[in-house]
Parts: sequence; structure tokens; C-alpha cells
Amino acid sequence: MEPTPESWSKADDYLAETLVGHDPALEAALEAQRAAGMPDIEVAPVGGKLLHLLARISGARRVLEIGTLGGYSTIWLARAVGEGGRVVTIEAEADNAAIARTSIDAAGVGERVDIRIGRGEDVLPTLVGGFDLVFIDADKESNTLYLDWAAKLGHPGTVIVLDNIGRDGEIVDDDTTDSKVIGTREGLRMLGEDPRFDATALQTVGAKGWDGVALAVVV
Ligand code: DHB
Ligand code: MG
Repeated sequence: MEPTPESWSKADDYLAETLVGHDPALEAALEAQRAAGMPDIEVAPVGGKLLHLLARISGARRVLEIGTLGGYSTIWLARAVGEGGRVVTIEAEADNAAIARTSIDAAGVGERVDIRIGRGEDVLPTLVGGFDLVFIDADKESNTLYLDWAAKLGHPGTVIVLDNIGRDGEIVDDDTTDSKVIGTREGLRMLGEDPRFDATALQTVGAKGWDGVALAVVV
């Protein structure tokens, strides 16, 4: 196979078919997101299941998500926390939050999900801590702010997942002027340098192109 975006995507489809399967509630959430004109920037099915498995493996009962979009990853996380578990998810756009609310409720996990509408910088200071897993998937320019809050609202052992760390390999460009790349690099540098975190990152290719995810634990 030639390593093209098309072949990465086909292989990702194969993995999703083989390991994730079809899920009416998740597919309906994507359909609603698209119909509302939101961008196709939710995690891929294999990425959603990775979040779900990380939450289950770590025994997370309280999850914080920054960046709800249409609720696709939220549903994956809400399913992982079990009955009595909670997901707090922050969404800056009220219209997105309304679509997400409907999809999350339709998926049968509405009681577990608290959607907070507003910018992360405004909502995060209002939250009570104790989160076991934090998924950061919002404006990349605020990655360091979000990581700082993830550490403050977490506890030793809290799992942090930071999305979109690959960005088509542009992360190596020291002279980039792309604010998203700058924010990504600053987040990665913080994960490497700040003693509150122990972290690694994996590049991915697949349905979402060339990108990746950083994983950290709060020390
Ligand atoms: C972008 C944001 C995302 O969260 C993502 O998964 C892909 C792209 C973006 O803002 O470009
Ligand atoms: Mg993302």
C-alpha cells in the first residue's frame, strides 16, 4: 500500500469495522452534528473507543471533557463511567451544546452528562475538582490553560488525554506562525517540563489524517 491519506483512512475503517462495529446512537450523533454544520473534527471511532477504554481501565467515575462539539466523544466517555458516574463537558457554542444535549439524551446517558456552556477559561474556575480523567479537545491556543486546570481539578493518578498533537507533522516547526500549532507545541512542552505531569504522545494516521494524542498522568 502507498502511504496516502486515503489508505490510512481505509485501514482506519477496517479497524473500526473490526473492533468498534456499528452503533446507532453514535452514528446518529454524528449525523446530527453534520446536519447542524459542525466541522468533522470529532475523534475517529477508534479514538472514541480509546477514550472509553482509558476511562474503564483507569476506573474513572468523574470525567471532565473540554470541547463537547456534537457530543460524540461525550457519549463514549459517559458509557464508560457507568451508572452513578458523571461527565462534565464544556462547550463554548450554545448551538453545539443544544445538538449535543439531544444526541447524548437519545443515547440514553443524559443523566450522567452535565453540559456547561461557556468558554473554558470562564467555566473551569467554577468547577469542583476530583476528576479522574480529563479529555482536552478544544481551542488549541488554550492548551496550557486547560492542562493547568486539569492538574488543579484532578488528583494524583488522574488521566489526561490531549487531542490533536500531530497536526500534519507541523509540530516540528520552531518558526510556525499557526496559532493552533503554537498552542499544541506549548501544551506538549508543558507536559514534558511541568513536574505535575508524566506524559507521552503517539502520532496517528487514519480517518482524521496525520495527527495524534498525548497521554499523561497527574503525578
Ligand atoms: C481541529 C480541532 C480538533 O479538535 C480536531 O480533532 C481536529 C482539528 C482544529 O481546530 O483544526
Ligand atoms: Mg480534536
